[in-house]
Amino acid sequence: MKVLMVCLGNICRSPLAQGILEQKCAAAGLDWKIDSAGTSGWHDGEAPDPRSIEIGREYGIDISGQQSRKCTSADFEAFDLILAMDTANYNDILKLAPTEESKEKVKMILNYVFPGENRKVPDPYYDDNFDRVYGLLDSACDRIIESFS
Ligand code: 4NP
Repeated sequence: MKVLMVCLGNICRSPLAQGILEQKCAAAGLDWKIDSAGTSGWHDGEAPDPRSIEIGREYGIDISGQQSRKCTSADFEAFDLILAMDTANYNDILKLAPTEESKEKVKMILNYVFPGENRKVPDPYYDDNFDRVYGLLDSACDRIIESFS
């Protein structure tokens, strides 16, 4: 599986989602390709937000080496599954889809925990609740691995 995690800035939620899924794949012996990107490009080249790096450290993952980049149409060729953190991300990613068929690759990540509910991962950039985000992404990544392995 090749999985791309996508949020707005690619500095808070999707870098954590990438790090968590990478850690779980390594623990499960799965050779998946995992990356993350943002719909905005506002933080291109930047490391994750220090608060995301810190919450990752508390749970034993190191995301400090990641660099923000913008999501592009080419990601639809490179990845099997493109996971949006909220509905704004979801709609922005769909605008990049090269074909109607490729839109099927885009899913709301929390639908793996709450099927069909289209719940968002709340943006901790504004409310500072990184622990809640970690818990939601941790549950989602468990379900994703169960779904595809
Ligand atoms: P993210 O959070 O989409 O989870 O990376 C944000 C990061 C930066 C901004 C907004 C949300 N910003 O406005 O710069």
